[in-house]
Amino acid sequence: MNVCVVGSGAREHALALACARTADVVVTPGNPGIRGRSPEGHTLESSAAPPEEIEADLYIIGPEAPLVAGLADRLRGLGGLVFGPGADGARLEGSKAYMKELAAAARVPTARFAVFERPDDALAHLRAAVGPYVIKTDGLAAGKGVLVTSDLAAAEADVVAKLSGEAFGVAGRRVVIEEALVGREASLLAVCDGEHALALPVARDYKRALDGDLGPNTGGMGACSPVTFVEDKVVGEAMDRIVLPTLGELRRRGIDYKGVLYAGLMLGDDGPRLVEFNVRFGDPETEVVLPRMEGDCTGLLAAAAGGRVPDAVACAPTAAVCVVAAAAGYPVNPRCGDSISGLDAAGAVAGVTVLHAGTRRDADGVLRTDGGRVLAVTAVAPTIAAARERAYEAIGAVEIEGVQYRGDIAVSERVGSTG
Ligand code: AMP
Ligand code: GLY
Repeated sequence: MNVCVVGSGAREHALALACARTADVVVTPGNPGIRGRSPEGHTLESSAAPPEEIEADLYIIGPEAPLVAGLADRLRGLGGLVFGPGADGARLEGSKAYMKELAAAARVPTARFAVFERPDDALAHLRAAVGPYVIKTDGLAAGKGVLVTSDLAAAEADVVAKLSGEAFGVAGRRVVIEEALVGREASLLAVCDGEHALALPVARDYKRALDGDLGPNTGGMGACSPVTFVEDKVVGEAMDRIVLPTLGELRRRGIDYKGVLYAGLMLGDDGPRLVEFNVRFGDPETEVVLPRMEGDCTGLLAAAAGGRVPDAVACAPTAAVCVVAAAAGYPVNPRCGDSISGLDAAGAVAGVTVLHAGTRRDADGVLRTDGGRVLAVTAVAPTIAAARERAYEAIGAVEIEGVQYRGDIAVSERVGSTG
């Protein structure tokens, strides 16, 4: 079997390694870390060719932008077996206003909301509301388009910056203002075949830039799985009240949703509520979920893309922790071109895999930073505490000038709680 993964980040690196247990994998455009052979002997390759020009038995699309732009439709049009929703399903992530409207139609428990395009209306709404205020760009903003604040003046300034186009261009010219939810957050990734859905092990993402959940929102600074405060019962409830009704509503609208439906959950006293949907594997959640799954990842995703997802997935009794090494200046203005070393020492720590994200190898052979999130250092061990220790030992061996990473990934379940 030949698999083509679309994307260039640590999520795609993790997907490539999981699929290369049973298949040869090409990643486009890939990154310098994706090459060679898997322990099972399958090839791993990065290719500059566009996905339409790569022959594969299965295409897996990593990031949201190509999904929203209809890449899955184009590949299906060429006869490909594709894991990832078409542009119609991807609107769930491409427009938060659409997502909220669909969730309301499906009676999914989520925050109350209102949508604005005119600053005066949005400001009047904010002034009449009680904080904390949650303001989101309607369109894609690489995980950075959400402000949660109790400061009315900051909320007002954010609304004006977004709606004027100054902060996020066209993605911000419409905003969704939401009620603030209270609780603990967790990420549920469900593999969908259009009708049925299979929950993967739950993960937790650390979205803020700084320790103690301070600083701006980022694409994700680390992750861990399992999440001990999420009981199986809660996963069942989230599937029954959030994922399956949404799939049903998509079907009613004629949308055949094949891919991951990622539900960002807020777990409060009245059960799970939906914070957001993503239409793809989470990053960095994927880096900790896939290493815990046993069996044939390629087969599972091919089954979802072409037929029926299985009823269950085998999961190893292990824990995984991922710590992201980000470039100097991330998330505001990441610096590219800093040299990276120490990866052999990091990768030699037991249970550790160093996944590449924003890296490039220059003609002089030197590996350099080439994006905000540079590496995702992932460790697997019997317990979260042991995995955490391994991940931090490994990231301590990495040398990048100005590197930033959080020191508190998976340290305590209380970090990241908004309640
Ligand atoms: P999103 O991109 O929609 O996932 O939002 C990014 C982060 O902002 C979430 O992971 C939450 O931490 C926070 N957030 C988003 N919406 C809400 C909400 N309604 N209430 C509280 N926090 C929220
Ligand atoms: N980890 C959050 C995301 O993938 O959007």
